[in-house]
Amino acid sequence: MLTDTNNLAIIDLGGQYCHLIARRLRDIGVDSHIYGPDVPTEVLSQHRGVILSGGPQSVYNQGAPSIDEGVLHLGVPVLGICYGHQLLAKMLGGEVAHREGEYGFAALEVRTSDTLFRDTPRAQQVWMSHSDAVIALPRGATSIAGTDRCRNAAFADFKRRLFGVQFHPEVVHTEYGKNILRNFARGVCRIRGRSTPSGRIPILIEQIRAAAQRRSIFFLVSGGVDSTVAFVLCARALPKERILGLYVDTGLMRQGETEELRANLGSLGLGDRLRVKEASALFAERLRGVTGPEEKRHIIGRLFVEIQSDAMREYGIDQQHWLLGQGTIYPDTIESGGANGRAAIIKTHHNRCEEIQELMRQGRVIEPLAEFYKDEVRSVGKALGLPPRLTNRWPFPGPGLAIRCICSRSSGKAQPLSSEAARTVEVAKYEGALLPIQSVGVQGDARTYRMVVALRNRSKRLDYRTLQSLSTSLCNVHLETNRVVVLISSRPGVRLEQARICQRTIEAERVELLRQADFIVRSSMEKAGLTEKVWQFPVVLAPISFQGGETIILRPVNSEDGMTANFARLPVRFLRQIGDRIRRMSKVDAVFLDVTNKPPATIEWE
Ligand code: XMP
Repeated sequence: MLTDTNNLAIIDLGGQYCHLIARRLRDIGVDSHIYGPDVPTEVLSQHRGVILSGGPQSVYNQGAPSIDEGVLHLGVPVLGICYGHQLLAKMLGGEVAHREGEYGFAALEVRTSDTLFRDTPRAQQVWMSHSDAVIALPRGATSIAGTDRCRNAAFADFKRRLFGVQFHPEVVHTEYGKNILRNFARGVCRIRGRSTPSGRIPILIEQIRAAAQRRSIFFLVSGGVDSTVAFVLCARALPKERILGLYVDTGLMRQGETEELRANLGSLGLGDRLRVKEASALFAERLRGVTGPEEKRHIIGRLFVEIQSDAMREYGIDQQHWLLGQGTIYPDTIESGGANGRAAIIKTHHNRCEEIQELMRQGRVIEPLAEFYKDEVRSVGKALGLPPRLTNRWPFPGPGLAIRCICSRSSGKAQPLSSEAARTVEVAKYEGALLPIQSVGVQGDARTYRMVVALRNRSKRLDYRTLQSLSTSLCNVHLETNRVVVLISSRPGVRLEQARICQRTIEAERVELLRQADFIVRSSMEKAGLTEKVWQFPVVLAPISFQGGETIILRPVNSEDGMTANFARLPVRFLRQIGDRIRRMSKVDAVFLDVTNKPPATIEWE
């Protein structure tokens, strides 16, 4: 029996953004509990309202998650989001059908602006990620908002206080998402105010002490924000001699990484608690000949565990008395399939490989930040007194440059666009081709691995508005694609149709080429004072050849939490200058800019 009922229940139907709903509610001072679909109705009746999350399935699929009908008769308000909206409509007698996909921004026209849309404008921007839609409303329900492509983007049965929204109010790109959630939580469910999340540090420290008890913590640190913040939290929770950090130099790090980590931990008085293991030869050996994105991720995750266990033996650490510490944050878990395996696997993050999951089952892992998102981690870091240069660093993935060095075993060449897609591109004064390479995306809460469209502007002008609209329409309407790139610099005479994929694996020279390109980007951004204008700026090496070399892709993005992102709109002249500098390196034929949001593309390419 819950003692406090001033909160909401969230039912996790397998969506990528389920946990983000809880987080967004935290932002507005509303607490919630996340349950699986089989939660008993009596438990739900103890909450002020119920939110049904999104999910990757279609409501008519066999085995698609559903909820007890009883929820609808509790008299408790319900808000369905995306899949939850479709499930609610279907359970109430409405009809759901497969439609054209809608991924990314959509313009919403609000028809009824009380309840959910109170104090928000009639026209507003929302974020969509779906291919099914509610085509007939249940009896008693009214359509309260729609988009061009989705007539029933929101519905309400006011009498029974049941609501559905096709878009995602929990992601930051939905302009008035917080207002909509606040209207539901406070206006409809009558949840009373509570202080916003603050002063979390003492609670986190208490949690670490309770989890560790008498044990010490052996921490895998990478130099990034998450693991450093988690490490420092542990160092505040336990006497210094009971924590030890291990940094593994995989040979897949950015230039200057090891030195920067030493300096950062040194300035925090933790320099003597750090050990460094040079393991580049081992990583190179295990990755030799590997091309599949997930395969790479599994190998790397496994190797980290292996090295950590060898190091513990070497340092005479008794595994029974030590926990393994990691800086895992929530998006790492959800993208790897969620804590309960209900969400789709988008990509297996290095700290969620099978070996780590086994250690977690044995209760041997501690992850102080596992419920947090990047921006929350940054604010905890700032509150701990870490320097802004560290807390504001661009995220860098655990598997490092390995997942930005795209490999291939196939051969093939560029394909022309379908005639309809070619016409759309032509009207916008661009030309386009399908590159013979795939990248990872997230569409309708599920992983996709699809071809990439390359564009080129005949007049050499780039206009972000046109590119945004081309990118959205190519991915949503015209093609089975999840990513669009545009040429910003190339060797003379390069034509898109010349693109060929070549057989490449992770080789030392390729990693070095990528590291140098990455360094050019980082130093140019810093020099131009633009570092903080983007959330992250991956640089990718693709085995696409035009004249015997390869291709570099620039992927600057803006995001709040990494769960959704927009391609960043940096000054075009500046990008071309970077592009030209990189292209002058030998072995680079062309430099492209990635102009895709997340969804439909993920931030990294694999
Ligand atoms: P995607 O590519 O899924 O990435 O949009 C979201 C954020 O996560 C980072 N990323 C990782 N971070 N281990 C990490 O610690 C990983 O295996 C991993 N894969 C992706 C990515 O750089 C972005 O910031």
